[in-house]
Amino acid sequence: CGIVGYIGYREAYPIVIKGLKRLEYRGYDSAGIMLFDGNGLKVSKTKGKVSDLEEKSKDIATSKAVIGMGHTRWATHGVPNDVNSHPHLSNSGKLAIIHNGIIENYEPLKKELINRGYVFKSDTDTEVLVNLIEEVQKKENFKLGKAVQVALNQVVGAYAICVFDVDKPDEIVVARLGSPLAIGVGKDEFFIASDASPFIEYTSNAIYLEDEEMAIVRQHKPLKIRKIKDDSLVDPYIQELQMNLEQIEKGGYDHFMLKEIYEQPNVIKDTYRGRLHANEGIIQMAGVEDNLEKFINAERIIIVACGTSWHAGLVAEYVIEEFSRIPVEVEYASEFRYRNPIISSKDVVIAISQSGETADTLAAIKLAKEKGAFVFGVCNVVGSSISRETHAGAYTHAGPEIGVASTKAFTTQITVLTMIALRLAKVKGTLSNSDFHRYLQELELIPEKVLEALSTNDIAKEIATKYKDASNCLYLGRGYNFPVALEGALKLKEISYIHAEGYPAAEMKHGPIALIDEKMPVIVIAPKQGHYDKVVSNIQEIKSRSGKIIAVVTKGDTQVKELADHVIEIPETSDALSPLITTIPLQLLSYHIAVLRDCNVDQPRNLAKSVTVE
Ligand code: G6P
Repeated sequence: CGIVGYIGYREAYPIVIKGLKRLEYRGYDSAGIMLFDGNGLKVSKTKGKVSDLEEKSKDIATSKAVIGMGHTRWATHGVPNDVNSHPHLSNSGKLAIIHNGIIENYEPLKKELINRGYVFKSDTDTEVLVNLIEEVQKKENFKLGKAVQVALNQVVGAYAICVFDVDKPDEIVVARLGSPLAIGVGKDEFFIASDASPFIEYTSNAIYLEDEEMAIVRQHKPLKIRKIKDDSLVDPYIQELQMNLEQIEKGGYDHFMLKEIYEQPNVIKDTYRGRLHANEGIIQMAGVEDNLEKFINAERIIIVACGTSWHAGLVAEYVIEEFSRIPVEVEYASEFRYRNPIISSKDVVIAISQSGETADTLAAIKLAKEKGAFVFGVCNVVGSSISRETHAGAYTHAGPEIGVASTKAFTTQITVLTMIALRLAKVKGTLSNSDFHRYLQELELIPEKVLEALSTNDIAKEIATKYKDASNCLYLGRGYNFPVALEGALKLKEISYIHAEGYPAAEMKHGPIALIDEKMPVIVIAPKQGHYDKVVSNIQEIKSRSGKIIAVVTKGDTQVKELADHVIEIPETSDALSPLITTIPLQLLSYHIAVLRDCNVDQPRNLAKSVTVE
């Protein structure tokens, strides 16, 4: 998911290719380029890396074209392959588009265009958009800019786009909603990119388009920015960039992990976008709808996963059992595959995996299939092995996760699994109508609350300074927040190399309590909803043994505040959805401790992002 465009006087090919390489850190699975030299469009695209694209584009590499655009794609609709790669051309072959984001309502739009005789080569939502623009152009006889604007007003979703029209060869039309887009302003030239890294060496003057803005970027003419909705003109605000290249790639954050932690409000929204309609009381995901019978008739749901994804599975166990009253078991994929599990066609197996490549999870899926179970995948990487091996599935839309320690994948997995639980509850009638509607509304508010929870960053940093030299840490939680305690401990040990254990708070007295002394920080997750009073008793037990208590509490809490050494306040939400919020300060705490200990946050020692060996 990277965009690069150039219009000016230099040769576009090397600028675009180099720019795409600069955006490689964003993660992608295919790449493409378009050049225009006055003699028709030259398009080259391929599955794979930018270096593969270069290999494939040798015949156009020497082009003198001074207009070009390039794209790296991270699949959201349609597997990564040559055809689905961008640019996409319209049916007439005159329009070319590159696009980051998701067009939610592409299916009805596509149907309508097919009825009008349009033919589609790819499975992408993007090809629908470029033909919609062409249709508007034809029908209304509009110029490119106007046609793009009218088309975008019919589209629901998120986008950053560049559109080029052979009949208007001195301009590129760009627009943004939800996906970033920067315009580098040089002398007699413009650069377009997802962030400033592709053009920082040419100019430090940049305009960042705001959501719902579009611009017509023209050769030898000043830039015009308009609001997509009401066509009003916006004064371009040119910023002078102070950042270096590395800072830009990380979006100004010091590490990918921190950037990804901060992306959570947006990616949770991306994950429920088009699936959750709280006001209408609708929640649906294609993979679940197509297999509803299998889910509701399941005697058991077995969740298999590894690492952080396994923790998301544990949260799902609590949520699915509570909402939809189907028995759930959660297993480490590596254990499941080797222990001759009892499984039949009456079971539904849900495999959770960010990468979609984890060897143990893949093997567990194969075993479950052999035994006749219906296997459903929850993956983040489109077209990954697990997404292909499963019978059906639902993608998380977290975008590429670069930091080895998983953060945004975890919360988006929980989002998908909670939606599944709610959908099944609706069909089975296991939640009252009012509860069902309340949960939908609350889920819709989660991104806002995650954003609020991110403001605990300063206090997390302060606490990190105090405890960075600890050699052990204990994380406690009950109910829905027991898995969050496990995940909190895993995050800390992964990136800071401090030994940490997560425990159900009440279970503490059966072992870990022996470890508690004045040197032992104990992180207790104690939101107001849930088993609050019980957790307060546990806190008292820690206090009377002089343990240091860091408590995650609901805003306005007074009782725990009196007992704890430090409190981190988070916004209130219902018990079942609280893991999406309580996990945020724990991610931040681990992050800051790791930074203070000078650890390699994004690539911790001995760990791999995608574990393709058992
Ligand atoms: C590795 C990663 C973890 C991840 C686990 C499962 O250990 O370092 O962050 O949780 O694999 O990966 P998956 O891609 O299947 O979710």
